[in-house]
Amino acid sequence: MTTDTKTNTMTGTADAAAAGTWQLGDLTINRMGFGAMRLVGMPWEKTPRSRDAAIAVLRRAVELGVNHIDTAAFYFAPLRSSNELISTALQPYPDDLVITTKVGPARSRDGEMAPMARPDQLRAQVEENIRQLGRDHLDVVNLRWGTSMAGQGREPESVAEHFGALAELREAGLIRHLGISNILPEQLTEAMSIAPVVCVQNQYGLTSREDDALVDLCGEHGVAFVPFFAVGAAVPGAGLVGGPDETGQAEVAAVARAHGATEAQVRLAWTLHRGAHVLAIPGTGSVAHLEENVAAGALRLSEDELALLDGLVPAAGASMPR
Ligand SMILES: NC(=O)c1ccc[n+]([C@@H]2O[C@H](COP(=O)([O-])OP(=O)(O)OC[C@H]3O[C@@H](n4cnc5c(N)ncnc54)[C@H](OP(=O)(O)O)[C@@H]3O)[C@@H](O)[C@H]2O)c1
Repeated sequence: MTTDTKTNTMTGTADAAAAGTWQLGDLTINRMGFGAMRLVGMPWEKTPRSRDAAIAVLRRAVELGVNHIDTAAFYFAPLRSSNELISTALQPYPDDLVITTKVGPARSRDGEMAPMARPDQLRAQVEENIRQLGRDHLDVVNLRWGTSMAGQGREPESVAEHFGALAELREAGLIRHLGISNILPEQLTEAMSIAPVVCVQNQYGLTSREDDALVDLCGEHGVAFVPFFAVGAAVPGAGLVGGPDETGQAEVAAVARAHGATEAQVRLAWTLHRGAHVLAIPGTGSVAHLEENVAAGALRLSEDELALLDGLVPAAGASMPR
């Protein structure tokens, strides 16, 4: 996928390699990945999403070069499980596929959220993911910590006991690399003092910039920053707290028009421009949206466009390196 410089529109075939690669430890991935949460539908959707459609999305993602998929055992609806869909759609797994899971929160079989697991319960959650995905070990496991999004009400509690428990599972060979999610900068520093951290997964996007400084901190340490809700924040029906964020909609739309792109693509491209260590894991249950999202990896924004987009919300202490 390239931008035709004469017509200024996005043309050609999308490929997840277009935005370049990143190393999660010794694992090389394309920066444009895929988030599997939306495959099963969300709790407020009354009708289960089609199983065949979810499998088609996963297979198309791999065809398009996606080799980083984010999932969790707690991504399930009454009749669907993201891990089971991944296992069914993609086994035998491609050699280069990296599946990132997360542990910490538990859900009962009827879907009720239970309190955060105790450190000694994390092993069972890791094993559950291994069983469901049909693997011998997990490539990357995030300790999913806070329940609040975008920095709201997060407390700098110690993650040492939980992260230490995952570090032991890594030593035991059940996990290859560790990450951490929904955290504050001091919790990343604490985790890194216990074991190597390859990624941080927090809410972040063009109009959700509370973690600007954390993005920079990750870059300084060579840790991938993996934002979630980079697209959905502006999507009606995505069910995000407070409803769709319309901040800067006119500016985003104008940049999108200039490239023959969509607003979702501009949002994804902006996050990828934020640093070489920033990855994308857009979630969708639609092949058309998947193709659009993968193609966003080829969208190159000009310095003027970046300046316009950077200014939509006040930067939260970031250096905005380019
Ligand atoms: N660590 C954590 O606490 C945490 C929390 C939430 C999510 N995650 C992970 O992060 C991933 C990304 O988050 P997410 O899936 O909630 O949010 P997202 O990727 O920002 O957006 C998903 C929403 O946007 C829509 N969408 C996707 N692509 C679109 C496009 N090109 N045009 C228009 N609408 C589009 C989807 O609807 P359609 O299905 O109709 O396309 C869905 O409603 C998840 O899948 C999950 O793996 C992690």
